[in-house]
Amino acid sequence: MKINFKFKICILIIGSLFALTNCTDPGDDSNIAKPIALGSPIINQATDVNSNGFKISWTRVYNAENYELDIALNNTFESYVTGYQGKSVTNMYEEVNGLNESTNYFCRVRAINSNETSKNSAIIQTTTLEGNGPEPTTALKDASTTFMVGMAVKAQQLTNGSKYDEILKKEFSSISAEYEMKMNIIEPTKGNYDWSKADAIVDYAVANGINVHGHALVWHESAPDWLKNYTGTNDEFEQEVKNYITAVLTRYKGKVASWDVVNEAINDTDGSLRNSVYREKMGDDFVAKCFEFAREADPDVLLFYNDYSVTTNTTKQTAIFNLIDDLQTNNTPIDGVGFQMHIQYNSPSIDQIKTAVDKAVERDLKLHFSELDVRVNPDKDITTFTSERAIAQKNKIKEVVATYNAIPAKNKYAITVWGMKDNDSWLISHHNNANEWPLLFDSNFEIKKAHTGFLQGLD
Ligand code: G3I
Repeated sequence: MKINFKFKICILIIGSLFALTNCTDPGDDSNIAKPIALGSPIINQATDVNSNGFKISWTRVYNAENYELDIALNNTFESYVTGYQGKSVTNMYEEVNGLNESTNYFCRVRAINSNETSKNSAIIQTTTLEGNGPEPTTALKDASTTFMVGMAVKAQQLTNGSKYDEILKKEFSSISAEYEMKMNIIEPTKGNYDWSKADAIVDYAVANGINVHGHALVWHESAPDWLKNYTGTNDEFEQEVKNYITAVLTRYKGKVASWDVVNEAINDTDGSLRNSVYREKMGDDFVAKCFEFAREADPDVLLFYNDYSVTTNTTKQTAIFNLIDDLQTNNTPIDGVGFQMHIQYNSPSIDQIKTAVDKAVERDLKLHFSELDVRVNPDKDITTFTSERAIAQKNKIKEVVATYNAIPAKNKYAITVWGMKDNDSWLISHHNNANEWPLLFDSNFEIKKAHTGFLQGLD
């Protein structure tokens, strides 16, 4: 009897255990063996490092069908190298080219298959070497096939056979007058026009098949004294301005392709209209009136609004595009906007430039980077032009040009640099800073890394 009872107890226990281990709710697969989770690749230090790239490799991962490679300018991967945000790679290595010299890069990789993506590998950092070969001498205008490359000039530079003349004809397809096509130079006293300097610049351009961008019809800083101290009525003041705009556009019709009709009308601080003599005498709609005067004088010329800090001062940026929206809403003739681009080796960021550029493109405007120079010594912390700042300047120019070059062709006009050689720059004279090297050519007319950066931005 006892044996019977014990036997039954054993059967009951075994049966229960069997049931437990095999009771499978048809919907419950928690006890089915799972495939091994996809492992992360082990990334190796970069090899074959040179001035514009390196080779990056990693270990094979079991069950991986492919790999995704990230390369960025920071170890938080907020700023990816173009084309390297999760780039799909079949092999266990990638040869990376087209990078900036002497620049830190951060790499990570992950494995993927149809079911999952592995965790990221560790991050490796590598620094490209400094380029030590001669700078390429390709002419800027030859490399720039979809927009003009301009330069700010002074009439005295345009003597036939001068070094300025030689480089201008080789490198540039457009010119702007740095100051000699402004009102204080052309109409220094009421009704007395001095066309000599403006004619010299326009005649040089026409003779050499170079575009002229007119700068600038109305600017509070270049209003002649007689206009600033005008004693007639507001209507008479407005007529003076209309007469000036009409005279200039009539004289240069068919020779000057575009004009900055109004320059720097918006305050830096709060985005309000500056209290210039133009606003005071002609009213808040003086900008619209000046564009109308210009269009009435020349039905074909391109009419621009031009200002500075458009990429970095978002209050001002918003105000500028509100102003342009008002002009467009009221059918005021405006064709384009100029971002002066007096920038620094470390600012603005690509994202800041893109944000502002997109606003111009959205409004179907022509965009002119109208006064590009790149301060390398804004804080006056260097007394010689260091290689590190030269490379940073080159990389910033490359970013600026590449961002501009990526906009639609219909929105392109020109990138104009504000002078030829470093010691020509207004930043030295007007900012009393002898230790500044902001342009594409050095003081001996030699090509700088900055010139190479411009070319690389066109790649
Ligand atoms: O060349 C003459 C010289 O012969 C004379 O003795 C001397 C004293 O009057 O003047 C010299 O001309 C000066 C010129 O710069 C020299 O390049 C002008 O007076 C001076 O007014 C002029 O300043 C220009 C400034 O605009 C005002 O027109 C700067 O060159 C020019 O770089 C600057 O450019 C402006 C843009 O138009 C608008 N965006 C900002 C940018 C920088 O301020």
